[in-house]
Amino acid sequence: MRKISVAVLAATGMVGQRYASMLSEHPYFELTVVTGQSSVGKRFGEVATGLPLSDRVANLRVAPTDPKAVDADLVFSPLPTDVAKTLEPKFAREGFNLITDASPHRMEADVPLMIPEVNPDHLGLIERQRKRRGWKGFIVATPNCTAAGLALLLKPLDDGFGLKRVIVSTMQAVSGAGYPGVPSLDIIDNVIPYIKDEEDKVESEPRKILGSLGKTRVEDAKFRVSAMVHRVGTTDGHLESMYVETEAKFEPEEVKKALADFRGLPQKLKLPTAPARPIIVSEAADRPQPKLDRNAGSVPGMSVVVGRLRRGLDERSGRLTFLSHNTIRGAAGSTILTAELMFREGLL
Ligand SMILES: NC(=O)c1ccc[n+]([C@@H]2O[C@H](COP(=O)([O-])OP(=O)(O)OC[C@H]3O[C@@H](n4cnc5c(N)ncnc54)[C@H](OP(=O)(O)O)[C@@H]3O)[C@@H](O)[C@H]2O)c1
Repeated sequence: MRKISVAVLAATGMVGQRYASMLSEHPYFELTVVTGQSSVGKRFGEVATGLPLSDRVANLRVAPTDPKAVDADLVFSPLPTDVAKTLEPKFAREGFNLITDASPHRMEADVPLMIPEVNPDHLGLIERQRKRRGWKGFIVATPNCTAAGLALLLKPLDDGFGLKRVIVSTMQAVSGAGYPGVPSLDIIDNVIPYIKDEEDKVESEPRKILGSLGKTRVEDAKFRVSAMVHRVGTTDGHLESMYVETEAKFEPEEVKKALADFRGLPQKLKLPTAPARPIIVSEAADRPQPKLDRNAGSVPGMSVVVGRLRRGLDERSGRLTFLSHNTIRGAAGSTILTAELMFREGLL
């Protein structure tokens, strides 16, 4: 099988390096271009900070982040927000197929916002995007790192019990703020109850992801989300405590089964980055924990780990805690999984 050549923009950042590691030996994709800003011209292995890389990838030279410097069939874009806003449409206009982890285009009506297990049909928006914008390329987006794990978990809950309200409180790792991120003296021995723009994203993105595809746009799912976000001193893995209210009455055991049994199209197609179990339910009284569970599952970092599932205030409410790896399920891993799905569906 001929491999698709791929470029990673901003490859020297927290998410970019995760891509480089996950793409070092990939059955469908060959990483041929890595770009950056301050590190242009350097050997990639020199600026990367510790994730495993193949020798071939470590020996790539960092190229400028410019469509003229990129020759690849597919572009992964974990660009900083302000740069992504103008540069990603430029890439798509010039004919590049681009999947982004950045936020500026996620909520645009003709941009699919993808969790491949949840809404593979939303890729149908690509044709409309190309027609409407006159582009040869396209932009597809991956959700915010906190919204990604949340949306995956909400899918079987909504399908099985009909979600009404979701109240979530997060404890988010420092790698979520990029490198070097939060100053160490601000976060050691501390919790910061604010992350700029994060609550809006967590409240709006899952409703688009679980929404239904109409002719011109996605109709948002009806449930509502209320989020309270916190930055804590863990390195990787966002922990979230959630309270849900549903249309249907349920027993906690039924919910555990619905979550543990959930599978999507990536599992059916046995895509390389698809975890065998997208959601792992733990029965331990004190799990999940970031240190112990961030790499759980058959593809490390791709499964959401759920624990402490119990009844809420009545028979139509419940609570649980879950953990989702922010640079894997919340960024590079989900985006690679979307690309694998597109490859298998003939969309690349
Ligand atoms: N961290 C997460 O958990 C996470 C999760 C989901 C989504 N995201 C999103 O992914 C994106 C990247 O996040 P990150 O955490 O990887 O950030 P980061 O660690 O701060 O990395 C920033 C990267 O951007 C490059 N860069 C800086 N200015 C640039 C410019 N003007 N043009 C081109 N490249 C430039 C840097 O290159 P040099 O090193 O060469 O200067 C570096 O590779 C952001 O949009 C973020 O919101 C992050």
